[in-house]
Amino acid sequence: MTYSRIAGTGRYLPEKILTNFDLEKMVETSDEWIRTRTGVERRHIAAEDQSASDLSVEAAKVAMDDAGVSPEDIDMVIIGTTTPDLVFPNIATIVQHRLGIPACPAFSLETACSGFIYALSTADKFIKADGAKCVLVVGVECLTRLIDWSDRNTCVLFGDGAGAVIVKPSDEPGILSTHLGADGQYKDLLYYPSGPSRDLDKAGTKEVGIMMTGNEVFKVAVKTLGNVATKALEDAGIEQSELDWLVPHQANIRIIQATAKRLDLPMEKVIVTVQDHGNTSAASVPMALDVGVRDGRIKRGQLVLMEAFGGGFTWGSVLMRF
Ligand code: UT7
Repeated sequence: MTYSRIAGTGRYLPEKILTNFDLEKMVETSDEWIRTRTGVERRHIAAEDQSASDLSVEAAKVAMDDAGVSPEDIDMVIIGTTTPDLVFPNIATIVQHRLGIPACPAFSLETACSGFIYALSTADKFIKADGAKCVLVVGVECLTRLIDWSDRNTCVLFGDGAGAVIVKPSDEPGILSTHLGADGQYKDLLYYPSGPSRDLDKAGTKEVGIMMTGNEVFKVAVKTLGNVATKALEDAGIEQSELDWLVPHQANIRIIQATAKRLDLPMEKVIVTVQDHGNTSAASVPMALDVGVRDGRIKRGQLVLMEAFGGGFTWGSVLMRF
């Protein structure tokens, strides 16, 4: 049986850092509130002249180097993001061209914070069913571009960044299972009220920013992520105690703790980056994976569960032997 296996990881974070103390000067908030309610201490903000493709290219170079692949080896590019450079061409083609990757399928997915999980799951299917040999998968976001910086409910939460992986076929396991889900009935709890075919003229104006009914999102996120994580293990016939690492979406430390508790997993087995990155939406899981791999915690052959939840709502998980 052919498995898909992550052959290399990488991340890129923009230089500029915005701390909770900086935010105290911008809106009525406090470092204490942000830390205790969300776990965030600082977040990175893309420079004015940086767009999502710039962040993606940097993260991809690191992942390609880690996997020992060159641009000619790559035969597919999939990018999860809700903040692409342009409406079209899609960001994956921009990244493909910038990296010198020869002609191949290149496309993006916009499933909010689940973007990377959806993209990785898609790569897994193309490898298993369609003979793809080397897929570049990126989760990237410049979400701070969509923020109303006078809205304390949202401006303290988000950050920018990119995470990338190279996925290749392997006889060794590999990705063991992927589970994806979505339920559009929750669309009004978390959304951005402007897009290419609706109210585009309002984008970036004071009138619109990310709209979120935080506490309602919180409740559904805790319940859904708990269910997603336990289902991934149940379907694979794997006991919770066998899991080496949980690499969760980094939206809120309290959501992460609740999921770990549901899995009976000590927090020592959870990769947490929310304090340094904030919520980077589609970039959060691949960046957290890269952090865990590069600091030596996540080792080859270990059992890793990645999960995410975001606007839509959308959600998903990937269970793998790293
Ligand atoms: O990544 C996609 C999925 N997104 C998520 O999973 C996010 C899920 N939601 C959350 O993480 C949390 O709901 C938030 C962090 C967004 C908010 O935390 P909360 O504990 O649910 O707070 P709340 O919205 O219920 O607000 C509690 C209080 C309110 O004041 P009153 O009405 O009790 O007087 C807010 O006005 O906290 C106030 N508040 C703030 N205070 C200081 C809200 N934002 C702030 C702030 N600083 N930045």
